[in-house]
Amino acid sequence: MTSSTAHPESTTHNPGRGDGEAVGIAILGHGTVGSEVLRLMEEHSDSLAHRIGGRMELRGVAVSDLEKPRLGVSRELLTDDAMTLINRDDVDIVVEVIGGIDYPRRVVLAALKAGKSVVTANKALVAAHADELAAAADAANVDLYFEAAVAAAIPVVGMLRRSLAGDQIERISGIVNGTTNFILDAMESTGAAYGDALAEATRLGYAEADPTADVEGHDAASKAAILASLGFHTRVNFNDVHCEGISKITADDISAASSAGYVIKLLAICERITDAEGNEAVSARVHPTLVPKEHPLASVNESYNAIFVEAEAAGRLMFYGNGAGGAPTASAVLGDMVGAARNKVHGGRAPGENTYANLPVADFGAVHTRYHIDMDVVDRTGVLAELAAKFAVRGISLKTVRQEESGEHSRLIVVTHSALESDLSATVDELTNSPDVKAVNSVIRLF
Ligand code: NDP
Ligand code: HSE
Repeated sequence: MTSSTAHPESTTHNPGRGDGEAVGIAILGHGTVGSEVLRLMEEHSDSLAHRIGGRMELRGVAVSDLEKPRLGVSRELLTDDAMTLINRDDVDIVVEVIGGIDYPRRVVLAALKAGKSVVTANKALVAAHADELAAAADAANVDLYFEAAVAAAIPVVGMLRRSLAGDQIERISGIVNGTTNFILDAMESTGAAYGDALAEATRLGYAEADPTADVEGHDAASKAAILASLGFHTRVNFNDVHCEGISKITADDISAASSAGYVIKLLAICERITDAEGNEAVSARVHPTLVPKEHPLASVNESYNAIFVEAEAAGRLMFYGNGAGGAPTASAVLGDMVGAARNKVHGGRAPGENTYANLPVADFGAVHTRYHIDMDVVDRTGVLAELAAKFAVRGISLKTVRQEESGEHSRLIVVTHSALESDLSATVDELTNSPDVKAVNSVIRLF
């Protein structure tokens, strides 16, 4: 039996240092998340010590700007030299809440190599370098935890790693980005302008340092890569995920969707698929999606996240909760810190990565999707039949076709049945180039 990065939960090489021993903590980052981790760690230090079997003791906090005014951390604990901090002999666990990829990668790899367990909330880092990080943790026989990297307070990573470890996952889908959900909800429910809603999400601490990662879907794609890797025991990296964000969604799209009985949500969808030849593969994608108003995901508002898991034996599971923000994210980080600290005290390691299935990652064109197409077409007899033929030629069947008068043109709203993404997108290309189609106003996939 082979498995690329699995490791047994063994105490052979890490017997633990014994009950009552202190565990040294270095926190890298004191922003939205780091400051809350530190606040909660100090506020609940006695309880946490009982849960761990030893006290967590803060050795230092690395920041970028030592002069920035800060509450809740004394000046002598601050440093702008994370590398020196993590290499201190009395540091056992390194908590990375800086963000970005290149610098945290270097620091996290150095920490693992130096025998420190690592807790990170950094989905961009994990989705880009999971194999390298897992291999470094294995080589040093230390823990690498990243619960907060996906959906903040919702314990979906632990659920996939532990609770569903015996089941066969078929599909994981849901809302995994709080910022975009906040924006879409504000645009729908209060008519807020896109820019104002994004500014408010940033003020509330939901958005990434560069919110392009949120609105262009990159943050959700990193989370999809992590979920697919864990769920399908196959390495799925950020670059394997098809990604479309919400920056092109307009107020008109939202009100048209609402009139038709839908809300627009940015969904991450990870699936196990079987191609026409019967070969298994996995797929992961992120795109704006029309969700029927009566579906439970439609009522996930503000910065909340929700994740559906469909598994062979467990059936359908749904997880809902705070998907962004300082305290909810700190809850997940602290949970990981307790786990890593327990292992330092009592021995053993957390369950690691296991990519034994090593399934191919399917091209986006090979997945089945459904389209909602809104277009302006010339108003003449026979147009409808001619356009319908463009779908039929690729075997795409139409669920509904609605025609409305719209000035000198006709507005046509077509909803397809499920079909190959490559066929659907080729058909839209043809429609766009057809002289009968004046404009394709929007193309949004349906859930
Ligand atoms: P912030 O931008 O609020 O904080 C980043 C912190 O990192 C700041 O304290 C900054 O220092 C520090 N920093 C930057 N560069 C360095 C460096 N070279 N050395 C040491 N410290 C440095 O980010 P967040 O707290 O929002 O996010 C942190 C991580 O958590 C990211 O990976 C993010 O994706 C993830 N995350 C965030 C969530 C959220 O809701 N905010 C939810 C889930 C995950 P200074 O204070 O001096 O500027
Ligand atoms: N920027 C992220 C979001 C933070 O809005 O979901 C939580 O990962």
